[in-house]
Amino acid sequence: MSKFTVLNHPLIQHKLTIIRNERTGTRVFREVANEIAELMVYEMTRDLPLEDVEVTTPMGKSTQKTLTGKKLAVIPILRAGLGMVDGVLRLIPAAKVGHIGMYRDEKTLKPHEYFVKLPSDIDQRELFIVDPMLATGGSANMAIEALKKRGAKKMRLVVLVAAPEGVKSVQEAHPDVDIYAASLDEKINENGYIFPGLGDAGDRLFGTK
Ligand code: PRP
Ligand code: URA
Repeated sequence: MSKFTVLNHPLIQHKLTIIRNERTGTRVFREVANEIAELMVYEMTRDLPLEDVEVTTPMGKSTQKTLTGKKLAVIPILRAGLGMVDGVLRLIPAAKVGHIGMYRDEKTLKPHEYFVKLPSDIDQRELFIVDPMLATGGSANMAIEALKKRGAKKMRLVVLVAAPEGVKSVQEAHPDVDIYAASLDEKINENGYIFPGLGDAGDRLFGTK
């Protein structure tokens, strides 16, 4: 069974409340969603490997730590996942970015894949799949399958809001993929939206409807 972790740092909880508010407009929603993604990745990268390096400061030579240069990639699930990419890249600017296009049929709630473009060395990278919403889990499961089919081996799923149903579904389908969320919400409502959630993440990010 994979790990499910809620990253509930006070700053994350505070910022999530801002974007949950229906009165928060597109500009602030976009900015704060990226800030939450940045804080989440800060917490998630505590275990990045370090190595020794010699550095000469104005005072002389010393041995210090540097990242080993582990290969990473961010994979947003379009569209809404795009709203987390800049935040991740602020901390990991050298990461490659792959895209997976997926939309949910509004009636059946089943996901449909429409676009996949990934770094060519996907099999050698650790992937951070990002999407603000994990509702039924259909989109995340299909995205993970698409990545595995193309050779991806190591990946983690990063979402802002998760529903219990989605967490269970991804854990069952992909026990090797750990899930990180800023919040575990109550349920999915009769229209397939997370409650209390934050509404339609893609529409709120891009000002569509
Ligand atoms: C949303 C969201 C997830 C998906 C979650 O995308 O960004 O990808 O729904 O729902 P699920 O867990 O039940 O699959 P949507 O299909 O609305 O597309 P969009 O990002 O283009 O708005
Ligand atoms: N997709 C969204 O954008 N919001 C939800 O609550 C569920 C799926």
